[in-house]
Amino acid sequence: MDRITLKDRDFSLFIKAEDIEKAVSAMAEKINKDMEGKHPIFLVILSGAFVFAADLLRKIKTNCDITFVRLSSYSGTQSTEKIRELLGLNEVLKDRTVVILEDIIDTGHTMDDMIHRLRHLEAAEVKIATFLLKPAALRKDLKIHYVGMEIPNDFIVGYGLDYDGYGRNLPDIYKVIPEE
Ligand code: IMP
Ligand code: MG
Repeated sequence: MDRITLKDRDFSLFIKAEDIEKAVSAMAEKINKDMEGKHPIFLVILSGAFVFAADLLRKIKTNCDITFVRLSSYSGTQSTEKIRELLGLNEVLKDRTVVILEDIIDTGHTMDDMIHRLRHLEAAEVKIATFLLKPAALRKDLKIHYVGMEIPNDFIVGYGLDYDGYGRNLPDIYKVIPEE
């Protein structure tokens, strides 16, 4: 379907599942190369990143640990600066190579907040992997090591990303059609 309605908004097809798959494979290839022999711990930021993480991690060949945190910043189609931690991090990260898995970096506030929360945990290195990046929206000075795709500053849903809870289950990515 090229056009869908979720709640009160219309969306048009933006990135097809097969193109998502190619981008995830390319990321996995780079991460596999960099992580050879390292036994990293992947830190998945819930909820949005769960689909991307499930796809990416099944392509990771190195031994690894996988853990989760749950953060929330979005309300409707707007990013907010108030990040809430809904599920905390219990894992020991001291001297570990940490790879953060995120669905999308928009303003960068969520990732910046995450990096600050990790600082006192004394990881050996922290890498950021985001499936999507909106370069025009980015407000924080972040070193992002792995990016699946760069996209324009439009609100999107699908592949784990939601609009007020709708659309996370869609295999393709859709972008919002502006209201007239
Ligand atoms: P940031 O803090 O502005 O970088 O936003 C990051 C978080 O907001 C991501 O983890 C997403 O969960 C959510 N987000 C950002 N852009 C979108 C979007 O276009 N659609 C749905 N969720 C988004
Ligand atoms: Mg997210």
